[in-house]
Amino acid sequence: MARETWGSRVGFVAAAVGSAVGLGNIWMFPMRVGLYGGAAFLLPYLVLLFAIGVVALTVEWTLGRATKGGPIEAFSKTLPGGKYLGILVNVTMLMIFAFYSLVLGWILRYFIASLTGELAGVNPGAFFDSIAFSKEALLWQFIVIAITISIVAMGVQKGIERANKVMMPALFVFLLILTIRSVTLPNAYEGLRFYLLPDWSKVMSGKTWMIALSQMFFSLSVLGNTMVVYGSYLKDEDDIPLSAIATAFGDTAVAVTAGFLVFPAVFSFGLEPTAGPGLVFVTLPMVFQKMPGGMFFGALFFLLLIFAGLSSTVSMLEVYVDSAITKLNISRRNASILLGLLTFLVGAPSAVNPSYFDWLINISTVYIGPLGALIAALALIKLGVDKAYEELKKGALIDVPELWKPWVKFLYPIVIAVIYISQFLLG
Ligand code: PHE
Repeated sequence: MARETWGSRVGFVAAAVGSAVGLGNIWMFPMRVGLYGGAAFLLPYLVLLFAIGVVALTVEWTLGRATKGGPIEAFSKTLPGGKYLGILVNVTMLMIFAFYSLVLGWILRYFIASLTGELAGVNPGAFFDSIAFSKEALLWQFIVIAITISIVAMGVQKGIERANKVMMPALFVFLLILTIRSVTLPNAYEGLRFYLLPDWSKVMSGKTWMIALSQMFFSLSVLGNTMVVYGSYLKDEDDIPLSAIATAFGDTAVAVTAGFLVFPAVFSFGLEPTAGPGLVFVTLPMVFQKMPGGMFFGALFFLLLIFAGLSSTVSMLEVYVDSAITKLNISRRNASILLGLLTFLVGAPSAVNPSYFDWLINISTVYIGPLGALIAALALIKLGVDKAYEELKKGALIDVPELWKPWVKFLYPIVIAVIYISQFLLG
């Protein structure tokens, strides 16, 4: 059977931005900005995005298109032991979906609580504690996985591309409405000051750069799995460089705008920006409770997160569904159902066990995730940067400077390796 392809360029970019934009942007990005000194985090993030992020997307898409396969295919064709490295990044993807589906499940629950007005009358901290690690959370996690299965089972064009073409424009509209509401609240400028004026001592800290880099890889979905698979559905006439710029820009625009949504509102009501994971689940509900029309804005906010999250979860499940279709020869529908259920089995204990939840996050995003990006870079280097450069230029409207070659061959893998190792040394 011929490999599926994207139906249109716009559809591909919508799906790529959809994968990239997720809880990473709206939940994790403001939380890290809050923890790492406001603008002091933003600056390294933007520098790394231009130097590394855009290149990272071109690396994974080029590798995918050149090898016409997901990570197992791409790594076996290029690296010794590549098959096992491919399996490793597939397993990592499953682990990411396993914890991500739990968080997205909480969001589903919050969306319903805002719609019914329940959220208006509760103590947000106690509400979060009663939901987060509970048997009820299992149900919401299951629903998230079931929706994801149903989209992935429909295929690349009819499922993933179509869902993204609806969810992405809606997401941008919701984000705009909510941001305008936030920056026009009384005292909003306090939040803007925090967000935009850097504390220079923090900009110079190695830890800030390290966190910014791993945040960026996660946020752009470049962990050697999703973007390789999405790249493998590209046709020769598709434009990789331009799509990479568009995706990096779109992803970052959403993350940065999410900061404009969160901080003015948080400061306007005299709350703290350093709540960590609770920023979205405890601090913002407090904001919605105090704000006129708060339950409406709350529902809109959680719906925004649901769209952002689902467009990412489909790109996660697609990775190992594609591997199963091509390597085990089972139908897309059966692969989606079986692997979705397997993800639920792996993820379910996290709904009742916070330390397992933390373990899943750390293993998949901190310890193995960046290695996936490194493996993909090495695979491309083994393929040959000259050959890869030719592949990259096929269908490209813009001229990619030759500097791309040494950049990919030396700078890119070295930066990943240094930052990866330093996270263990800096603790
Ligand atoms: N980029 C997504 C986010 O920011 C998460 C993701 C990571 C999706 C890896 C696919 C692969 O939420």
